[in-house]
Amino acid sequence: MPTNWTPQSWRNKPISQVPVYPDQAKLEAVEAQLRKFPPLVFAGEARELRHQLSEVAAGRAFLLQGGDCAESFAEHGADHIRDFFRVFLQMAVVLTHGASKPVVKVGRIAGQFAKPRSSDTETIDGLTLPSYRGDIINDICFTPEARIPDPERLLLAYRQSAATLNLLRAFATGGYADLTRVHEWTMGFMKDSSAYPRFEEVAKKIDDAIDFMRALGLDSENTPSLRETRFYTSHEALLLGYEEALTRRDSITGEFYATSGHMLWIGDRTRQPEAAHVEYFSGIRNPIGVKCGPSLSTDDLLKLLDRLNPGNEAGRITLIGRFGSDKIAEHLPRLVEAVKASGHTVVWCSDPMHGNTVKASNGYKTRPFERVLSEVKSFFEVHRALGTHAGGIHIEMTGDDVTECTGGAVAAITETGLEDRYHTYCDPRLNASQALELAFLVAEQLREERPLRKTRLAAM
Ligand code: PEP
Ligand code: CO
Repeated sequence: MPTNWTPQSWRNKPISQVPVYPDQAKLEAVEAQLRKFPPLVFAGEARELRHQLSEVAAGRAFLLQGGDCAESFAEHGADHIRDFFRVFLQMAVVLTHGASKPVVKVGRIAGQFAKPRSSDTETIDGLTLPSYRGDIINDICFTPEARIPDPERLLLAYRQSAATLNLLRAFATGGYADLTRVHEWTMGFMKDSSAYPRFEEVAKKIDDAIDFMRALGLDSENTPSLRETRFYTSHEALLLGYEEALTRRDSITGEFYATSGHMLWIGDRTRQPEAAHVEYFSGIRNPIGVKCGPSLSTDDLLKLLDRLNPGNEAGRITLIGRFGSDKIAEHLPRLVEAVKASGHTVVWCSDPMHGNTVKASNGYKTRPFERVLSEVKSFFEVHRALGTHAGGIHIEMTGDDVTECTGGAVAAITETGLEDRYHTYCDPRLNASQALELAFLVAEQLREERPLRKTRLAAM
């Protein structure tokens, strides 16, 4: 921890992307209440994730991070969480099978509420109101009252996160994730997807492997790793008052941990090395992500790494590139080269969503699926060329059958089709079929690396 750092020290730094609360006294009262609430996650779990991410940095595991762009109070429900979790499990199985290495599972969930915005205001039909900043801050309804930041929302977000996490923990360890149930994870509407037969093929191979293991005396009764999985939570730590209130000193190590989620990341708009968000992140010991967009200079990235990980601890930093399919080849190599030369150990992760957002002719914000796939392919190519590890992907996805991103192999979504089920509160997400298709593409890339690993061994 840097000297002079406290959970509050960010308050003395310049800050961007913050709401202005008209009722400061109420905000302070709510933050005081949150300070007394139980932690949502525990320091030991965050340490365990840091360790798993160090395995990713070394190329021995792969990171899958994904979920809603913005969680909402309205969409909160058991079915929504279950549907997300099962597509996530399907993706993880496809990746584990393709990579033949463990997949570290991190959801954008149970805390992903606050949103950075490109403009402080929004104008519709001549009326200008403050922008929607996520359900933890204000309401998406376009009325003056709804857009006023309301401190009560911090409490609602905390309680929703706790309930979501409770269900996720039950799913992860209570039998739902049992590999012998791999066929049950498929949802009805996915049967039309081109990814479906491919998934069934993988599921069949897993069945065979399980039968073989059972013959050797290993089954989900006596082998917890077949029955349970580890699932971690993450979000963009944008609303620092909320994060500060949930920052706790770990009784074992005496160090500070954010307890609002296992992994937190800094957004592309708030990563200025001398500003408030970086100050806050410099003192917590959780594994952290840094979003890296085209405007990130090589110098700033190195400054950030020195500031956020002075001890160069593996697993502490995940760099999440989000350049756009047309910009990744220009920007990722310079950042990878610089980090390599600096000696810093990081996880390289690709967010193929945020650099590929376009406006459809009917006004919908969308992402062409081909551009998402293309950025992921380039990500693997760059790392292959530079001899570094393509460590993971970070995506906005849902288990629901939404129509938010155009494209996809079967039942490709057209611009007009976006109108059918466009439900997102913020950015367009991959639906279940698109998410699974993406997983197959990544699995192919990972499979290509497997013979490479053997060749390298043989050459030694
Ligand atoms: C996000 O992840 O939803 C987001 C806003 O990303 P970025 O900071 O990369 O723009
Ligand atoms: Co987003």
